[in-house]
Amino acid sequence: MMTLEVLSLITAIRGTFAERSPSDDRVGREIRKVLAGLEKLPPATSGFSMSNHAATRHIAAALRAGNESTAGLLDRIAAVSHFLPWTYRYPFRADAPGLGQSVAFAEIVGPKAPIASDRVCLGLTLLGPRTLYPSHRHPAIEIYYVAAGTAVWIVDGVVSERPPGTFILHRSQAVHSMETSEEPLLAVYSWSGKDVRTSSTYTTEYRKEL
Ligand SMILES: [Fe+2]
Repeated sequence: MMTLEVLSLITAIRGTFAERSPSDDRVGREIRKVLAGLEKLPPATSGFSMSNHAATRHIAAALRAGNESTAGLLDRIAAVSHFLPWTYRYPFRADAPGLGQSVAFAEIVGPKAPIASDRVCLGLTLLGPRTLYPSHRHPAIEIYYVAAGTAVWIVDGVVSERPPGTFILHRSQAVHSMETSEEPLLAVYSWSGKDVRTSSTYTTEYRKEL
């Protein structure tokens, strides 16, 4: 159940990425690598069942926070959004005890995801409203595509608001954080590069960098 809908979502993400891929810039080059890694995916090794992750209470509001450019993709996300493997795997932090109930990730393609790949990861990130996803880093090169919600992003100290339809590149080990206001954030992410297995880790204490 849901496997066909998840494959339709992957197709929609590939289409969204492909529109940006011809650009001769870092984002375009990275997207071309991700698209190559998403070719010839194996079948899903597990089904997709209803998630009971606390952060999924924000999905309905997130699906209303897109714009014209992301409406088609959000339709595909909406079809499967409650049936994805939402998790939050960071260690508990006493300075942000509720974080694990407001932030979640659903990896669809990756070394440990339902659709296996050692080359790329592909998934969704969900942040509730008024939530800081604190500074973190990882070896993989990351692309984010904002599907819904305008959040403030800080990437290596550079602060910017990123509305739906925006692509963001995080180079390997770039320090990045996102903070929502009244709207939740729902975004597609991809990982590529030499190491897509090493998990992301937090880099600072909560808000210390702001
Ligand atoms: Fe990241």
